[in-house]
Amino acid sequence: MTDVSDRDRSPVQGLAGLPESRVVNENITAVEADTIVVNLFRGVTSPGGATGAVDEALQGAISELIAGGDLSGKLGEVGVLYSGGRLPARRVLIVGLGDHAEFDMETARRAAAHAAAKARELGAKELATIVHGAGIGGFPATQAAQATLEGALLASYRFGGWRRGADDGRSLERITIAEMAEAKLEEVEAGARAARAVARGVALARDLVNLPANVVNPQYLVDTAKDIADATGLELFVGDRAWAEGEGMGAFLAVARGSRNEPAFVQLEHNADRTDLPLVALVGKGVTFDTGGLSLKTRDGMIPMKSDMAGAAAVIGAMQAVAELDLPVRVIGVCACVENMPDGAAYRPSDVLVAGSGHSIEVLSTDAEGRLALAEALWYVQRFQPAAVIDIATLTGASVVAIGAGVAASLFANDAALRARLETAAKATDEKLWHMPLFDEYRRSIESKVADLKNTGGAQGGVGTSAVFLEPFTDYPWAHVDMAGMAMVDSGKERPYLSHGATGYGVRLFLEFLRDWA
Ligand code: BES
Ligand code: MN
Ligand code: ZN
Repeated sequence: MTDVSDRDRSPVQGLAGLPESRVVNENITAVEADTIVVNLFRGVTSPGGATGAVDEALQGAISELIAGGDLSGKLGEVGVLYSGGRLPARRVLIVGLGDHAEFDMETARRAAAHAAAKARELGAKELATIVHGAGIGGFPATQAAQATLEGALLASYRFGGWRRGADDGRSLERITIAEMAEAKLEEVEAGARAARAVARGVALARDLVNLPANVVNPQYLVDTAKDIADATGLELFVGDRAWAEGEGMGAFLAVARGSRNEPAFVQLEHNADRTDLPLVALVGKGVTFDTGGLSLKTRDGMIPMKSDMAGAAAVIGAMQAVAELDLPVRVIGVCACVENMPDGAAYRPSDVLVAGSGHSIEVLSTDAEGRLALAEALWYVQRFQPAAVIDIATLTGASVVAIGAGVAASLFANDAALRARLETAAKATDEKLWHMPLFDEYRRSIESKVADLKNTGGAQGGVGTSAVFLEPFTDYPWAHVDMAGMAMVDSGKERPYLSHGATGYGVRLFLEFLRDWA
């Protein structure tokens, strides 16, 4: 039988792939590109800096826009002017940065994304931009350059899948960062390098989530990890069903029993030989499709469940970026990849499973499968004696009910220092986390009469009960990120660097955390 899974794997790089990018030591007024981007804070009436230089070259056309009330500098606004031969570039975009007092790196990302989206819409092929925020914005050039290029690259991501005609030919081919101060060049280059690696990691994670489950099964995640290991030199280990049996992973294997797709543990390691460095482990839920199993989901509840491997996608995307940037940290990424299907062989509500750790688990719902797979992975990484473990998972609908969709992920931690580092990374990336409690009451609600634990804790408090379920499988500083509400968005309106479908949430958060850790 043929279906899309037999086709060319090209969509895995996004519809058109991300644009090329480079840094040049030039004044933005001198850059050869069809479109150049400068910026404007709200309330500025006579622009200075690079925007001032462009204004001058255009004989005051930008000042005139402002004076006429056509341009206010509010965030999201993009003014368009044509140079009429007064600059090498044909088109000039002036992007609003909003209020100076509120400016931060998220503003820079959003402004760059607004400009890139506008350029794309106008049919631009090559966009050159100044760094947003390194001048009067007052941010270090490295950070500002990273935010600017990251925003522009991520806004250029589109997933068209197999839709004929989805490629309208409007995509940026190259993004140029123009930095005229030679003294800042090295920092801008460093920021651009980081942005490229991060954006590629995010795009990879988005592709993995956007591709449907008839393409992305556990084996597909194995193949992707192989490609990354070959390209980057990351150490790869793949544990198949027989291996999991040897490990005694009864909980993980139970989830796999209903599916014809073989399960897999996927492990990527960076700086595997640097045993002198403290190890960070990233653990991802890789449920490639979650039907709920015999505790079958509703018709509508099942539809988005191709995204139930978004945690694994974040781990894989982050590992690729860590390797590309060769971060001076030792990191291991472990993904428990499995499909949750109903079947004659499927596990049942009331079954008792024994995990690799020896814990027995009474199954109340086969739809609480993520914690079963994740618990095994959390126990598995104990053997590496990690200094910190962060798991990321689309674990509970309750997290979405509590915090909302597209707002923040739930954060649980047994270690205040680890939690603080994650919260710092969340602020820097605007991949928000909200700290939640590991209350004793939750622990009591998952006590079973026939096993050490049961896999659900009743109708209420579902985020907390899922987190305390995982806790006994950890014996190290641990944090748990429930990203159920963050894997997909309907449109990228509010965050212009997102587009319809997968967000790639977690990749930027992990990268920021690991760079700070190093
Ligand atoms: N993958 C789901 C969680 C989910 C729901 C993610 C909605 C994204 C959007 C998870 O496996 C699940 O089914 N959780 C159950 C747990 C319940 C059975 C205790 C849930 O949240 O309903
Ligand atoms: Mn489920
Ligand atoms: Zn699930």
